Amino acid sequence: MSKRVLTTESGAPVADNQNSASAGVGGPLLLQDQHLLEKLARFNRERIPERVVHARGSGAYGYFEVTDDVTGFTRAAFLNEVGKRTETFIRFSTVADNLGGADAVRDPRGFALKFYTEEGNYDLVGNNTPVFFIKDPIKFPDFIHSQKRDPFTGKQEPDNVWDFWAHSPEATHQITWLMGDRGIPASYRHMNGYGSHTYQWTNAEGEAFFVKYHFKTNQGIRCLSSEQGAEIAGKDANSHQTDLLQAIERGVNPSWTLYVQIMPAAEAAGYRFNPFDVTKVWPHADYPLQRVGRLVLDRNPDNVFAEVEQAAFSPNNFVPGITASPDKMLQGRMFAYADAHRYRLGVNHTQLPVNAPKNAPADNYGRDGFYATRYGSRHDKNYEPNSYDGPTQTDAPLGAPREVSGWTGTYTYAEHVKDDHFFQAGELYRLMSSDEQARLVANIAGGLSQVSRDDVVEKNLAHFHAADPEYGKRVEEAVRELRENQ
Ligand code: HEM
Repeated sequence: MSKRVLTTESGAPVADNQNSASAGVGGPLLLQDQHLLEKLARFNRERIPERVVHARGSGAYGYFEVTDDVTGFTRAAFLNEVGKRTETFIRFSTVADNLGGADAVRDPRGFALKFYTEEGNYDLVGNNTPVFFIKDPIKFPDFIHSQKRDPFTGKQEPDNVWDFWAHSPEATHQITWLMGDRGIPASYRHMNGYGSHTYQWTNAEGEAFFVKYHFKTNQGIRCLSSEQGAEIAGKDANSHQTDLLQAIERGVNPSWTLYVQIMPAAEAAGYRFNPFDVTKVWPHADYPLQRVGRLVLDRNPDNVFAEVEQAAFSPNNFVPGITASPDKMLQGRMFAYADAHRYRLGVNHTQLPVNAPKNAPADNYGRDGFYATRYGSRHDKNYEPNSYDGPTQTDAPLGAPREVSGWTGTYTYAEHVKDDHFFQAGELYRLMSSDEQARLVANIAGGLSQVSRDDVVEKNLAHFHAADPEYGKRVEEAVRELRENQ
C-alpha cells in the first residue's frame, strides 16, 4: 500500500507537521506558513452550536422490519409488506444538560428515529416517556429555561425546576413518571421509546386513524436507583455511550418491537380523554397494542461529529400515509426543529449524508445557500412550473383532511369527560408496588425539600394531593422530615 501523504486543505503536500516556519532558528514565526495558519484557524472553528435541548446523545444505524400487516390503517410504503426492511438511524439523548453532562441522570431520554424510506425520510422524534410535562408549545422555552442552568448560578436549581412545576399542574403525570423507577434508565438499550404524541395514519381508501407509537425494548427494562445513578455518573459520564457502542461492536444488536394503538378518527371527539393532549396516555384497555415490526441497531457511526452531532430530526418529516394530529405541542415542534437545524447546521443540512433521503433523493427547486452540494444537470431549471421536464407535484395529499370550525383565538384544550391534570398521575401512582411508591416519594421529596420558598413547596404538594390523597400525604411527610433535618 502506498504511503498516504499529509496535505493542506487545498491538497498540497505538507513538508513539516512538527515545526512551524520561523525567521531563523530563534526568530518569530512566518505569516507565509500556510499549513500553520490553516491548522490553527480550522481548529478554532471545530465546534458548532450544540442542540438547545438534548445536547448529549449517542447514535446508531440499523433497520426496521415489518412483522405484521398494517395496510388497513396506513398506506405508508415502508409499512406495506410483511418482511420489508427499511434502513434507519437513531439518536438517543438526555434532555437537560449540556454536551459535557453525564448519562446516568434522572431525565427523560430522547428516542429520535429516522426511517430512510422509498418515499422520503420519515422522522419519529420521541422520548422514552409516553407523556410530556406541558401541552402547549408556547410554554416550552420557559419550561426548558427552568430545567437547565440558572443564568446567575450556572447550574440546575431545584428552586427553578419546582417553581415552574408549581405553575404547571399538567406536569404532575410526567413528574410521577420521571421520579419513579424508570426515571434513570440503566442504558439506552434497556428502555422503551414512544412517539408520545398522537399521529394520524391514512389508508389507501382515504380513511383516517389516530395512532400512538410504542417501541418496547427486547433487552428488558433496566433502571438505576438514584444512588446507583449518582455513583455511575461520577465514575463514567459516558456510561450510556459506552454501553451502546460496545454492545454493537460486540455484535449484540439491540432491538425494539414496535406496537401502535389505533383509534378510528371518528372516535376522537367522544373519547373520555382528549386524544391530542400529550400529558395523557390512552389506557391499553381502551386501545390495545397492535404489533407492527421490529427495530434492530447493527452499526455504529464511523464519526460521531459527522453522523451524530450533525444528525437532524424533524417531527414534520412525514411520508404519504403518516401525518400530524392537531396536538398543539406537535404543531409547535413542526416549526422548531427545522428552524433549529437551519441555525445549527445551515440551510443545506438535508444534504449531509446522515440526513439525506438516500432511498428517495430530493428533487426540487430549492437552491444555493452555504455549502450547497446538490444541484441538477446543466439543463435543469430553477423555477416551476416550467416547460421542461423538471419535477412536478403529485396532487395527492399525504393524509386525509380534517374538518375544523370556530373562531381564531388562544384557547386551552377542549376538556373531555375524564380530563383533568391529575387523574392519570394518580392512576400511575396506584399502579406501582408499595416499594416503587416509596422510592417515588423519596425521589420527589429529595428535590422538593431543597426548594427555598414555602409557597412553591405547597403548590407542588397540592398537585400530588390532587392526584391521590395518600400520594400527597406521603410526599408531604417526606418533605417535612427532610426539611427538618436540613
Ligand atoms: C413544543 C415543544 C418542543 C419544542 C419547541 C422542542 C424543541 C426542540 C429543539 C429546538 C431541539 C433541538 C433540535 C436540534 O438542534 O437538532 C429538540 C430536540 C429534541 N426533542 Fe424537542 N421540543 C419540544 C418537545 C419535545 C417532545 C414532546 C419530545 C418527545 C416526545 C421531544 C423530543 C426531542 C428529541 C428526542 C430531541 C433530540 C433530537 C436529536 O436527537 O437530534 N421534544 N427539541
